[in-house]
Formats: sequence, structure tokens, C-alpha cells
Amino acid sequence: MGKDVIVACDFSGRKETLEFLGELEGLNPFIKIGMELFYREGPQMVRELKEKGYRIFLDLKLHDIPNTVEKAMTALASLNVDMCNVHAAGGRTMMEAALRGLGSGVGKRPLLIAVTQLTSTSQEQMERELLIERPMKEVVASYGRNALKAGLDGVVCSPLEAPGVHEMCGKGFLTVTPGVRFAGDSKGDQKRVTDPAGAAALGSDYIVVGRSITGASHPRKAYERCIADFTGLKDR
Ligand code: C5P
Repeated sequence: MGKDVIVACDFSGRKETLEFLGELEGLNPFIKIGMELFYREGPQMVRELKEKGYRIFLDLKLHDIPNTVEKAMTALASLNVDMCNVHAAGGRTMMEAALRGLGSGVGKRPLLIAVTQLTSTSQEQMERELLIERPMKEVVASYGRNALKAGLDGVVCSPLEAPGVHEMCGKGFLTVTPGVRFAGDSKGDQKRVTDPAGAAALGSDYIVVGRSITGASHPRKAYERCIADFTGLKDR
């Protein structure tokens, strides 16, 4: 796996998702299934998209006691997705348990990454509500180090924190970065954002893009522009 754009399929159901993916036909996008679609359609939706050949990041952000997370990950392991995640705030023991559960499947273990601070969280909110008073970059890099020590493959963070994570955890430790917008697009609920080329310059390994593609008037063009801006490739 190399640098790629992951399209967040945040749709309310199967029909809307398949219609959207029809617009990207032939482009073989790496897609993300999150809570909205998974809770609505269940694991069958994942199986169906896997059978169609999509690479899938199953973004369920597990965060519970280690025993529960290990068993939940054991259940998810049977779906043979390509990437899964947990919250780093669950701690190292929980992340190690997640890794054990995910490794219990028959196929290749999916990549396991840890959410650091959500890209919708600002420095001010983190200080005021979570009582974490260190700079965001330091907090994210430190969560990254915990994830690395637990044996995970990388983190979810904003592109702005990718350099600090790579410095702390090495270039091979993946930074999967939501919070990406084309210049001029609405930020929505995201706080720590950059555009695709900016994310590439900061060393992001994967960008996760939802509304800038799914909400565009021409999603196919928006996806192709994203790939071109992020990977520097004009044709695929
Ligand atoms: O529409 P937008 O591009 O903001 O979508 C970003 C996607 O990435 C959403 O599906 C969101 O759940 C996910 N995500 C995020 N921040 C994280 C982890 C995941 O925005 N830290």
C-alpha cells in the first residue's frame, strides 16, 4: 500500500452508497465505511463491497475495556477488511488486545491504526473540556508513540500533525489523515484542516476525504482532482 486517497462513504444506506460508487466506476477507490453506514446496514454491506473488490477502511473507532475490544476485533477480523481502528485514548493494553483480536482471522491481518485527537477537536476544546494542556502536536505524537509501542501500524491525525508523528515514530509508521478540504470548501465540523497538496507536503500517507468528494457537484472529478493533488499523478 502506498500513498492513496480514502473516500469516506458516509451515506445513510446501501442504495445511496452503491449509487455514489457507481459514479467512481473503474477508478477502484479505497473506501471508508464508518459508523453511519455500518450501524444501518451491518457487516453484510462490508462483505458485499469487499466482494466487489474495494479496499476497505472500517472506521468504527473502538474504545472500551481491553477484553471487550479484543472480542469485538475478533468478530471484525472475519470481514477481511484492509484497515481498522481504535481510539488511542483507550491505552496501550487496549490497543494490544485489539491487535490480538484482529490477528485471529484467517487472512492477512488488516492494518490497525489509532485515532489520536479527532480532527474536529480544537486546542482550546482539548484544554477546556478534556483538561489536556499540552500543545496538540505533542499530544498527538505522544499518542502515536503509545500506538507504536503497542505494535500498531499507524495513527489517524490531522495532516498538520503528520510531521511530528513521523519524527517521533519513524517514516514507516502510517499517518492516515482526515480533515482535508479543497481551498474554498466549507470546513463543516472539522477544525484542523489542509488541502490535498498540503497534506502531501506534510507527509500524510493516506488522506481520508468525505464531503469534499461526496458533496461535490461532480464527485468523479473531485476524486480525480484529489488523487492528482495528493499523489502528484495526473492519470490513473
Ligand atoms: O466529510 P469529511 O471529509 O470531514 O469526512 C471525514 C471522515 O473521516 C469522516 O467519516 C469522519 O468520521 C472521519 N474521521 C475524522 N477524524 C478522525 C477520524 C475519522 O474526521 N480523527
